[in-house]
Amino acid sequence: MNGQPLARLAVLISGRGRNLQALQAAVADGRIPAVIVGVISNRADAEGLAYARNAGLPCTVLPHRDYPDRAAFDAALAAALDALQPDIVALAGFMRILTDGFVRAFEGRLLNIHPSLLPRHKGLHTHDAVLRDGDGEHGATVHFVSPQLDGGPPVIQGKFTVDAHDDAARLAERVMTEVERKIYPQAVAWMARGELRFEQGGAAFRGRPLREPLSLDDLESGFR
Ligand code: GRF
Repeated sequence: MNGQPLARLAVLISGRGRNLQALQAAVADGRIPAVIVGVISNRADAEGLAYARNAGLPCTVLPHRDYPDRAAFDAALAAALDALQPDIVALAGFMRILTDGFVRAFEGRLLNIHPSLLPRHKGLHTHDAVLRDGDGEHGATVHFVSPQLDGGPPVIQGKFTVDAHDDAARLAERVMTEVERKIYPQAVAWMARGELRFEQGGAAFRGRPLREPLSLDDLESGFR
């Protein structure tokens, strides 16, 4: 580990947790030089929680319905995160819109993965939107989080060609297996190593501002 301390990684989930599993696998085998200090879910029934508990990861459930409004939930989330002292906060299928105050408090540490080729198809139902618009390509994007929904500086984007067999379910599966489970661990590894940073409102990679997102071609062999 070159004597460098492990980065402290927190992962936020709401659902199945396949991205969490990909991150955990890469932490466990040393591809990501980090320790997962906590998994936080806004849903007690998130399938990903069962996985996380089985893997021995410390879990916290903060049901958003227990809070009167978005600001109160985000304050509780910020407090739970502050207790973990994370260097990196990975939103992994975390289905909550975050307040500006929350985003500013964690700016530069917050990464998200979104199932589309941003800036195309922000928000929900991206696979349906790809089919509706007849897009020739689809994929996913890892980006730093800014107060604009799905609008922060992109880091890496993986794409594939949409084919005649693709319905929304197949696209969702392809986005996960062909793209997300590769690019998210890679991006978090770069960040944990200090090669990826948030600087002056943008993404910087190995000391230079990223003018366009990295791609599947940039994946290191362990992440392909
Ligand atoms: C992923 O496609 C992610 O991009 C989107 O929701 C899905 C989450 O899957 N936000 P999982 O919970 O990681 O399995």
